[in-house]
Amino acid sequence: MRVLFVTAEAYPLAKTGGLADVCRALPLALMHRGIDVRLLLPGYPRAYTRIERPRIVAKLPTMLGISDATLVGGVFPDTNLPVMLIDSPTLFRRGGGLYQDIEGQDWPDNAQRFAFLARVGMAVAVAETKIGWVPDVIHANDWHAGLLPLMLRQSAEPRPKTVFTTHNMAFQGNFPTDVLPSIGVSPEFLVDGGIEFYGQVSYLKAGLNYADRVTTVSPTYASEIVTPEFGCGMEGIVRARGADFSGILNGIDDALWNPATDPYLAHNYRESDISGKRACKTALQREFGLPIDPDKPLIGFVSRITHQKMADVILAALPWIAEQDAQVAIVGEGDPSLEAALTETRERYAENVALTVGYDEPLAHQLQAASDILLAPARFEPCGLTQLYALRYGTLPVVRRTGGLADTVVDATATSIADRSATGFVFDDADLESLKSAVGRALALYREPLTWRRLQIQAMSQNFSWDASAAKYAALYSDLTGAPLTEEDDEAETALEIARQAAS
Ligand code: ADP
Ligand code: GLC
Repeated sequence: MRVLFVTAEAYPLAKTGGLADVCRALPLALMHRGIDVRLLLPGYPRAYTRIERPRIVAKLPTMLGISDATLVGGVFPDTNLPVMLIDSPTLFRRGGGLYQDIEGQDWPDNAQRFAFLARVGMAVAVAETKIGWVPDVIHANDWHAGLLPLMLRQSAEPRPKTVFTTHNMAFQGNFPTDVLPSIGVSPEFLVDGGIEFYGQVSYLKAGLNYADRVTTVSPTYASEIVTPEFGCGMEGIVRARGADFSGILNGIDDALWNPATDPYLAHNYRESDISGKRACKTALQREFGLPIDPDKPLIGFVSRITHQKMADVILAALPWIAEQDAQVAIVGEGDPSLEAALTETRERYAENVALTVGYDEPLAHQLQAASDILLAPARFEPCGLTQLYALRYGTLPVVRRTGGLADTVVDATATSIADRSATGFVFDDADLESLKSAVGRALALYREPLTWRRLQIQAMSQNFSWDASAAKYAALYSDLTGAPLTEEDDEAETALEIARQAAS
């Protein structure tokens, strides 16, 4: 089975968040199951410096008015995972970020840039590119690839089957309707049952409406986004997909995120001997200019600094946390006003609060290893990966009961501690008092070393590897194409059916 995985991000070629982690780890897990999977990504300048064995595989014909594009093939570093980058000086060869310029403004031609990503995906799908490889399934991710299922609907049979995964319903790729002539979509689709969304063109809606199957990244988020509270206006569209929609929980790349081998850590450690974790903590305290004290509870937050991640509530909780004689270390970037407010609070509470504004992959690993507690609250969370990394690193997460957070963390109560199922601290309401109460419970247990150690072991022994979930995607693909399943995938097919029924 051949699968083309289309995405705007994949670690380490391009990353702003969890989408990138998933779009590396899932294709790798599929490849290990024997699926012939290739990725298609925009050719951001930095991506070329990170792929191995780069070579030009095709000069692309003029499409959507773009005549300067070529496909550059290569593999992900240290793997044999194949990727094709769309090289286009007009659309992708520029400085700044993936979606924004250095001032933080969205690129004015994002509609065209990601329509072109979809258009090239279609060219590969219908053998227009003559690369000698045609997929059986297209797996399109998030709004950036949302037009691809629609474009394939417009094309003649035979065409590959399509799966669309929404990693976050809040990011919709909505543009004014005057982009229509430049994005290769016929005006007949600009209707309510098509891609029209409150007077705009919505790339997310295109993916949700026109893919053969739709998935999201956790079972709980799947049940949430059919409701107005979480559906971001698209709840009816998702609901209408009925049994063609399901939630499959993300996994983690347990080779990249393994405290026993992580090259970024001052000291490696494992479940059976976590003494190295203390050394990681003192190294981070030194690095961040916090008082060095391995016994003082250290609370980490590595995240986009946004309303989704409750960064405003964390900001409000900092003076209280400082009063509890705990330390907080923050690595993140996002909303400029929240960044400024955090910077100001850090100055006022410099003995207890440390902050690095920016994006820093090694530091994210170091923070996970050094912290005792990880803050991962959210107003909504499709899956969330940082709480999964925290569990693996013996860092107990504080999360809100929503989306993938609800699916992956078990609250520490007297019962769950006794039956050894507890892995973290879970609260219900998205407000300051609830967050403080959960952090308070964590700090109280931290002062009971034996119980804390037991919780750490419990957390570190959870299995969130991709094996089970990759099998579910494989089952989905084979369901669509009729390609035979392996015995393992057969079991996953049953699990998928149960998930589908639960979602509908
Ligand atoms: P989301 O994708 O919604 O931001 P996830 O928890 O799924 O949330 O994934 C976040 C990913 O981004 C994780 O790999 C996390 O380590 C990483 N990350 C977030 N902020 C930073 C940062 N400032 N520096 C380095 N890595 C970061
Ligand atoms: C999005 C979501 C996050 C999820 C990630 C990968 O960024 O916000 O919850 O873990 O995608 O699926």
